[in-house]
Amino acid sequence: MFRSHTCGALRIADINKEITLAGWVQTIRKFGSITFVDLRDRYGITQLLFNEQLNAQLDQTPLGREFVLQVQGKVVERSNKNPKIDTGDIEIEVHTFTILNAAQTPPFTIEEETDGGDELRMKYRYLDLRRPSLKRNMELRYKVNRAVRNYMDTQGFYDIETPFLIKSTPEGARDFVVPSRMNEGQFYALPQSPQTFKQLLMISGYDRYYQIVKCFRDEDLRADRQPEFTQIDCEMSFVEQEDILNMFEGLVKHVFEDVKQISFKEAFPRMTWDDAMWHYGNDKPDIRFEMKLNNLKVEDTVHCDALNGVDFKVTNEAKTIIAVSIPGAASFTRKQTDELTEWVKRPQIGMTGLLFIRCNEDGTFKSTVDKFFSEDKLAAIASFCNAQKGDLIAIVAGEEALTRKAASELRLEMGNQLGLRNPDVYKPLWVIDFPLFEYDEESKRFVARHHPFTSPKPEQIEWMQDLSKYAVIKANAYDIVLNGTEIGGGSIRIYQRDLQEKMFAALGMSKEEAQEKFGFLLGAFEYGAPPHGGIAFGFDRMCALLGGQESIRDFIAFPKNNAGRYVMLDAPSVIDAHQFEELQLQSTVKK
Ligand code: AMO
Repeated sequence: MFRSHTCGALRIADINKEITLAGWVQTIRKFGSITFVDLRDRYGITQLLFNEQLNAQLDQTPLGREFVLQVQGKVVERSNKNPKIDTGDIEIEVHTFTILNAAQTPPFTIEEETDGGDELRMKYRYLDLRRPSLKRNMELRYKVNRAVRNYMDTQGFYDIETPFLIKSTPEGARDFVVPSRMNEGQFYALPQSPQTFKQLLMISGYDRYYQIVKCFRDEDLRADRQPEFTQIDCEMSFVEQEDILNMFEGLVKHVFEDVKQISFKEAFPRMTWDDAMWHYGNDKPDIRFEMKLNNLKVEDTVHCDALNGVDFKVTNEAKTIIAVSIPGAASFTRKQTDELTEWVKRPQIGMTGLLFIRCNEDGTFKSTVDKFFSEDKLAAIASFCNAQKGDLIAIVAGEEALTRKAASELRLEMGNQLGLRNPDVYKPLWVIDFPLFEYDEESKRFVARHHPFTSPKPEQIEWMQDLSKYAVIKANAYDIVLNGTEIGGGSIRIYQRDLQEKMFAALGMSKEEAQEKFGFLLGAFEYGAPPHGGIAFGFDRMCALLGGQESIRDFIAFPKNNAGRYVMLDAPSVIDAHQFEELQLQSTVKK
């Protein structure tokens, strides 16, 4: 028997028991003729006491950090108790010990807070995973997984696996491709999601499907993006949007209750995409705090009368002017407002500057544009913005998309600075009625906002004949947003061949191309496709949010770094010449 107990198990009630423990050496503290060792495993830490006699043995075969050690001994009460750990009332009086394996000194400390930098921790991920914080994340991930499976089971969903070596599925990112040895010059693609497969399963009659599944997307990475990530992928037949929203609101509620003991009593609020953009400047609003955008002027239409009749070039010439009223910030120093101005001038935000109006406590107003705006005008702007005494109004002006984005970023930054984005407060939100299409500046054409299988609002289908209406056609598509992060998205699908063909045509695909790429799906639609719809959650993002963090990286056991590299494996890497030969590919890289 390697161990009778784990390192987190023993308590005062176990005193005098003869036990065997095994684990890793966390710390070694020598006090004269005795030595204390903290032994660690997944479950906790137990203090070991090596007496005088064993100490002599330790001198012959010294222990080191991270050695794998087995000890036999007796549980005794500690004189110097440690209330911080569960086993803190006891220690083990060691009788015999065996070093099961020696270890090199680890390159960073394996403790809650480590001294290791990111790259080093990634290189030695197996050591990093021994740290309590990562262990907690892995535990949380497992619990979320279990809670999801339990809920889906009670709702009658089948978990059905779908293939990884497939044909490209367009979800807006680039595919990872895999050459086929048996089919010269041809490639599989790794799925960006199981989208078409789950639709085929609906056609097969498996009307409640889900899968916790890997997806692969070759896109630029950020804190909440990995090239391979996990989705909770779901699909249902004979449903309307309302059925899906209810079912998966239930899932989120169940996960929160099960994993965090948090109950959401009310239904999740819903907001249209148009409202989200208008009031928050972004389609995943963080509604933990207000500070909504005030649309003074949008695309040359003045909404705040106070802007009229003012001889100021900036506000007259800007197409769009948006204000954010920052609560309590009228007391900001000149240095603070200058810093904010510099902040919006950074290339990521790209504005030329900021205008400020201070709403003083005594009811007066002071602005950076006093020369052009009378106090009455300033008061009228403040009233339009619903600003209170003590607020600071920050105003951005410029081209619509850029200005809206800047105002949105400014709102979030101020939310951070004012401590309004508490990670322990959870505010879910459904964003509904997304546009069907989106104009892609790069390719100068309309692309699918969600994906090409998304159904337009039935009453707007005929608008698909008219390019001038493309920008306003809405879809039966929805996202679920939590604290400003999109944790899931889905739609009601097209299930008739002719509408799907219309959609492909609207996206600029020829009949031949549609047949070549999606003939299998179009064909399947002719064999009794039921009305269906679904959603997919970003599983890693959900776990990170439940763990109170923004980055998903430490909720994935073996993640890639920001350049998409496995530091530990040193991958991607070149392959052998014979592998190229087998694949009948040439090993040249275009510089
Ligand atoms: P979508 O592309 O919106 O929808 O993806 C669903 C959710 O997956 C998460 N996500 C990611 N997480 C980590 N790293 C990434 N690179 C990444 N990309 C996306 C997000 C997102 O909300 N097939 C459709 C779903 C459907 O229509 O049913 C789809 O994949 O949280």
